[in-house]
Amino acid sequence: MIKIRSSEITPEHMYWSRRRFMKGAAKLMAGTVLLAACGGPRSGSPSELPEQPAGAPGTTPSLAPEPTPPEIRTDELGHPLTPYESVVGYNNFYEFSLQKQDVANVAAGFVTSPWQVWVTGLVNKPRLFDLDALRAFEVEERIYRMRCVEGWSMVIPWDGFPLARLLEAVEPTSQARYVRFETAMDEEHMPGLRQNFPWPYVEGLRLDEAMHDLTLLATGVYGQTLPPQNGAPVRLVVPWKYGVKSLKSIVKIELVEHQPETFWMEAGGGEYGFWSNVNPEVPHARWSQATERVIGENRRRETLFLNGYADEVADLYDNLDSRSWYF
Ligand code: MTE
Repeated sequence: MIKIRSSEITPEHMYWSRRRFMKGAAKLMAGTVLLAACGGPRSGSPSELPEQPAGAPGTTPSLAPEPTPPEIRTDELGHPLTPYESVVGYNNFYEFSLQKQDVANVAAGFVTSPWQVWVTGLVNKPRLFDLDALRAFEVEERIYRMRCVEGWSMVIPWDGFPLARLLEAVEPTSQARYVRFETAMDEEHMPGLRQNFPWPYVEGLRLDEAMHDLTLLATGVYGQTLPPQNGAPVRLVVPWKYGVKSLKSIVKIELVEHQPETFWMEAGGGEYGFWSNVNPEVPHARWSQATERVIGENRRRETLFLNGYADEVADLYDNLDSRSWYF
């Protein structure tokens, strides 16, 4: 079993205390957060005040107290949130473009309303969820680290609800052991679909992973409606796994008996497996996973075992040898 330093472990109460219920407060918070993330609030940020030498002619010495620094929001480990512009401007969404900085532009015309998510398979109550039905779930904010398999990471404040709530509503049968997810295919607005990949983008989780409270269906980010490039109107977020698992713009969720074949298992030439659990000790076939580039900060950080969520999820894998966690 891989050891994690005690400084990397956050007591559960601290983690949970940072989860905030969003209903009603969402818009209010978004205003504050957005300003802080987009280069500092319009007032009060020392870095934004015009520089003036002390005692310069025409200036009156100010008796005002030092301006209060803007609130720096962090994850439960103290890592600051990734600026909003990076979260919505540096994206992996191959259906639109393979160029991260282009995805937002290409995806701008993507229609995400009306929308339907078909939840089916080994369930007692198969159901089509439209946007109103999705909105009925209570939304909360979760600040999660996102670690891409390519070696970069962000800290993102998502708004969403546990996938478990939706799965409970359809009542999986006792035969259901895995969950298979599928992304939309819109030939007209997704030029990436012309690339030779095994579309649609499919992902999968074991049922207990899917039912885990950390597994989120996100409908917003930074208190705003999810933009198309981030997977509008609803996407998966599984924070202890590489970002490939967090598939976007979901149209179908199917409860199945056998482990599904994922997009990257098929497309990745044997380099990608089903589990994709973040593990700094298991390198990718072509690069190390020991460290990550922190987007928006120009520095590298040590990658944490299970992306820092070991306390919450390590016991899901008691029967799995850590070397197979990736595959
Ligand atoms: N979902 C779909 N449908 N298509 C994709 O190309 N890329 C994945 C994941 N979900 C992808 C996807 C990868 S590799 C990552 S790292 C995350 O989305 C990135 O999410 P973000 O752009 O919101 O940061």
